[in-house]
Amino acid sequence: MKISVIGAGYVGLISSVCFAKLGHDVVLIDIDEEKLAVIANKEVLPIYEEGLQELLEEVHIETSSDYDKTIESDVIFICVGTTADENGAIFSEYLINAAGKIAEVLKKQRGYCVIAVKSTVGPGMTENLLIPLLEKSGKKAGKGFGVCMSPEFLQEGRGIYHFMNPSRIIIGEYDRKSGDTLERLHQGLKAPVMRTNLRTAEMIKLASNSFLATKISFINEIGNICKQLGIDTYDVARGMGMDDRIGHKFLNAGIGFGGSCLPKDLRILISGAREVGYQPDLLQDVSTLNETQALKPVELLKKHITLKGATVGILGVAFKPGTDDIRDSRAIKIAEVLLARGATVKAYDPLALDYFIKTFPKVTRATREEVMDCDAVMILTEWEEFKELDYRGKIVIDGRRIEKAREARIYEGVCW
Ligand code: UDX
Ligand code: UDX
Repeated sequence: MKISVIGAGYVGLISSVCFAKLGHDVVLIDIDEEKLAVIANKEVLPIYEEGLQELLEEVHIETSSDYDKTIESDVIFICVGTTADENGAIFSEYLINAAGKIAEVLKKQRGYCVIAVKSTVGPGMTENLLIPLLEKSGKKAGKGFGVCMSPEFLQEGRGIYHFMNPSRIIIGEYDRKSGDTLERLHQGLKAPVMRTNLRTAEMIKLASNSFLATKISFINEIGNICKQLGIDTYDVARGMGMDDRIGHKFLNAGIGFGGSCLPKDLRILISGAREVGYQPDLLQDVSTLNETQALKPVELLKKHITLKGATVGILGVAFKPGTDDIRDSRAIKIAEVLLARGATVKAYDPLALDYFIKTFPKVTRATREEVMDCDAVMILTEWEEFKELDYRGKIVIDGRRIEKAREARIYEGVCW
């Protein structure tokens, strides 16, 4: 099939190389010419994803900023950024921009084409915002073109693996023909397929990420209680996880969830609920707890040193190991508070330091050794290499459970 993908970010780029790997002809569109040139020349990519560089070298994808290249596509995926502000209001400019451009293409398109939304959107946005914009082409959804909501569930750092081995394929369809086209496209992937309507697919994405967030805030709340009682949260999680109704995954207590998806999708769902007059207290508490959890390392450190004039070392600024992405990383909030309290902050991360220092020029780029020589050390991302370090004689606040750090002179686990 001929597939076009709008937006060469994490989701758009991973989807493009994987669809090409599955044998489809892929056109990748982005407004960022520089990014496109790097992709077209197969240079070192601006984002780190396991296996992505290698797969890009293996497959062919056409890149352009010219939407006319998408004409005669069977499916056009929308993967532009959909960030959301602190109140969960989605920044939909990019979506509107892309939909407008696709409507121009639809005017020239002779064959049938499905427009599939892969960016995370609020409940009802595909029907209420995107379809009217696409119909500015003069064609009607369900007749001149098809529409689907095709949520992705890939985890950063392992995006290729998740795309090629999905736990399920959710297809939200405007009509049967749209859904049939998308099901045919995913035939190369072995996974259960669930066909449903557009807004249910939107909600499955938001609810799935919000459930993962809830599981993390739950175990962090249990952790905060366990710490008061001198119980090891990770033992509790192990005992809980033996029950397959609970499961072991996403029960790692610590400083909370970050990244471009969980915090944002939770906010989008909370704001969507309020828009329809429902007060989502549980989801709100999941979000609030996540915000306060990130402050716990600083509170704990204040018990041991005076922050003003101290030098604090941060091990790990990526929102999780295996990625260079710092979007909504907990390290951002912690660095902000430490700097505000008059501490000097040094940071080390194997992959994400460039983006972090660009965001936080006041933070000093450091080696692992320089971080370990600080007055105190905070572990904020559980990179494997931190399990090898010598913590003896140090003051360590551990936000991500690095067992070896217990050898420190003073060791505090955030919620254990
Ligand atoms: C995106 C959505 O933001 C997220 O909600 C969804 O869950 C997955 O897809 P991500 O791939 O991480 O997430 O976004 P980002 O890395 O910001 O990439 C978006 C790309 O779209 C960028 O390359 C940007 O240049 C491009 N873009 C943006 C366009 O091509 N056109 C636009 O009008 C705006
Ligand atoms: C998430 C979802 O997992 C994925 O399905 C969706 O498509 C996009 O959003 P990602 O943003 O890559 O993926 O991050 P994830 O691996 O889910 O981790 C999110 C955050 O939760 C990280 O900050 C991580 O450190 C934290 N986390 C995760 C915990 O604190 N404890 C856990 O047990 C698991």
